[in-house]
Parts: sequence; C-alpha cells; structure tokens
Amino acid sequence: MCTMQPPRLLLFLSLLLPGMWADPEAEPQVWQLLQTSVFTNISSAEVSGVAFLGDIPIFALDPANWSIHIHWPWAAQATDEGDAGKVKSYSKHYLRSMVRYVHDMVRQAKMNYPLVVQIRAGCVLYPNMTSWGFMDVGEGGRDLTVLKIDRQCWEPQQPTLLAEMVSKSLTSKKSTMGLLDHLLTISCQSYVLALCRYGKATLERQEPPVATVFARTPGPAQLLLVCHVTGFYPRPISVAWLRDGREVPPGPGLNTSAVLPNADLTYQLRSVLAVAPRDGHSYACRVRHRSLGTRSLLVPWENHSAAPGVGIAIAVLLLAAAASAGGVWWWKRRKGDEAAWENQEFLM
Ligand SMILES: *[C@@H]1O[C@H](CO)[C@@H](O)[C@H](O)[C@H]1NC(C)=O
Ligand SMILES: *[C@@H]1O[C@H](CO)[C@@H](O)[C@H](O)[C@H]1NC(C)=O
Ligand SMILES: *[C@@H]1O[C@H](CO)[C@@H](O)[C@H](O)[C@H]1NC(C)=O
Ligand SMILES: *[C@@H]1O[C@H](CO)[C@@H](O)[C@H](O)[C@H]1NC(C)=O
Repeated sequence: MCTMQPPRLLLFLSLLLPGMWADPEAEPQVWQLLQTSVFTNISSAEVSGVAFLGDIPIFALDPANWSIHIHWPWAAQATDEGDAGKVKSYSKHYLRSMVRYVHDMVRQAKMNYPLVVQIRAGCVLYPNMTSWGFMDVGEGGRDLTVLKIDRQCWEPQQPTLLAEMVSKSLTSKKSTMGLLDHLLTISCQSYVLALCRYGKATLERQEPPVATVFARTPGPAQLLLVCHVTGFYPRPISVAWLRDGREVPPGPGLNTSAVLPNADLTYQLRSVLAVAPRDGHSYACRVRHRSLGTRSLLVPWENHSAAPGVGIAIAVLLLAAAASAGGVWWWKRRKGDEAAWENQEFLM
C-alpha cells in the first residue's frame, strides 16, 4: 500500500525570516500534540491532550468539554493566527470524527473494549529552516501505525489485523492525507515560527544552576561525595568531578543521575562520586551551563570539616571574579591558547 514517491522539496524559509536562529548550533524546535483516548465501551470515549513546544506546555484539551486551554497569553496570540486558528475552531469536529472512526475500526476488527488509543503528531523545525512533520498512532501502549508523509501512506508497526486494517483505511483516505500533509508541514512550521516570535522571552529563558556538595558515609571505609545541581533551565548541562583539578573520567565510582524536571519548569540532577575517606586528594564539582556563558561553577568539597555532611557549599557567582576570568579568557583566546577554557573557572 505504501508506494514510493520522490522526496518532497524541503521548505526554505530563511529568506522570509532574516535574523532568526543566527546561531548555527541552535537546537531544533519540536512541536508536538500528545493525545490519549480511553474507549470504555461503544458509547463512551474520554479524550485528553497536551501540546508542547520543546519542554514548554502550550495548551491542554479539557476532557470534560473538549475546550482548549492555552497556557500562555503569547501562545494564545500565536494560536489564533493563520491555520492554527482554523484548526482550533475545527478541533471538536476533528475529535468527533476521530472517536467515530475508532469505534468503527473496533467493530470491523471485532475487537473488545476497553481500548486506549494514543496519537502523537507534530513537526520538527531545524535551525537551517527545513522541517518535517510526523504522526503516529498507538494502541494499548504499543505502536500501531505511522504516517509516512514523503510516501503518502500509513505504515503498520505491528503484524496484526488491526494495524493492517487501520493503515490501509487511513492510506485510502486521500483527502485526509492531503490535509495532514499540509497541516504537519506548512501549517505546523508557521505555527512554530509564530510561537517562537511571540514567546521569545519564555522560550529563551535561562535560569542558572545552584550546586550543593555534601558527603554521605554508607560505611566506615566509604565516602560518597554528592553534587546536587538544581534550578537550571534550559535542560542541557554538564556536571563533572575534579580530583586535584583534573576531571574524573567515567568509571565505576562515578554515578550521575538523569536530568529530572522540577515543578517550576527548571531541572535538577545529581552526581555521586565514591572515594576513600581521607585519601589526601581535593575534590570539586564543576558545572557548565548556557546561563553561565563561558564560565564554570566550581563547588569544592570541604574535606577538612569535622563532621560528615557539613561540607555544604552553595556557590555564588561573583561578578568581579567573572569579569577578571572573562578578561583572562579573552587574552588567552587572542593568544590562540586552546587550554584557556580551564582558566575561566573560578572558586567561590
Ligand atoms: C459506558 O462507559 C461509561 C463510562 O465508564 C458508563 O458511564 C456507561 O454506563 C457505559 N455504557 C454502556 C452502554 O455500557
Ligand atoms: C470546560 O470545562 C472547564 C472545567 O472542567 C471550565 O473551566 C471551562 O470553562 C469549560 N469550557 C467551556 C467552553 O465550557
Ligand atoms: C537541515 O538540518 C537537518 C538536521 O541537522 C539535516 O538533516 C538537513 O539535511 C538539513 N537540510 C539542509 C538543506 O541543509
Ligand atoms: C547509580 O545510582 C542509582 C541510583 O542511586 C543506582 O540505582 C545505580 O545502581 C547506580 N549505578 C552505579 C553504576 O553505581
């Protein structure tokens, strides 16, 4: 059912938007709508949905009355523009069709209720102004079918009658295919650009990390140094341990957690280093983050403190130190010294 077609021409918008994403290292923007529907029986469907731009929630669908709750005034402005506004005004119509379609498929495939259907749809916009749209459908927590926009078809993701049937039926709906193609490429792209334009302050927000170093003593022969880093945004961060000023390489003694979300749209993580008590080395936790610019945050482990767990240090960025570090950095850069990076670090 999936026929090969030449790849679509990529869309170039750079001429229309001078100055956006001047930074070639910028990350792609991902807009996505996540929708979950629970079908309890032939006459009931509970639909909920959320939309995100990156990790920023944009809107949510109220399961009670299917009205759309937009989280930010700037997002409301962007959502009322162009195709997004039209889609918004047709959203209840779309949801009704979706519910009817699922009940239809359940009947044709002779499936049993209850049934949980998940839909993920959206687009990725790259800094070079090309984009691609995606849409996939899952059932019961497993991938069911995926839209292949370039080939104008839906591809089953599991060897079941339901996956085959749904893929075939969706592929045969040419007008829906055309609409999705338009919505997921052109409309989605201009929606993302509108969101980026109106929501610049929120999307480019930076919160500096706060780092705390303390120790745990699980046994007399073991000391665990913990570096807890929290309150930062955006998500990408680098946390390392320095032993006598040198970075400790990855190994069995080093354990860094995943980056976890806080409730206030900032993130946290911790890095634990196992060391021998009184081993004579000095230790410090080093944090690098976009909000710190080219500087690093260094929080030393206060080895000399009497009681375990007292060596708590909250690092504060000192402007004077920053300024002088910046000066050294600039001077070193002028001399073409690659090792200059380390000189930007400063202690609290
Ligand atoms: C269908 O499920 C809903 C929600 O669980 C329930 O309120 C309703 O009575 C059910 N209807 C039938 C016909 O079973
Ligand atoms: C939908 O329901 C929510 C509460 O669940 C309510 O706050 C909102 O005003 C309702 N919207 C409409 C359009 O009825
Ligand atoms: C744009 O960037 C994406 C991701 O980096 C890449 O896959 C794509 O080939 C690029 N397109 C052009 C025309 O440079
Ligand atoms: C790292 O820490 C986690 C959580 O404390 C633990 O489950 C995991 O086993 C540790 N991994 C290593 C390699 O020590």
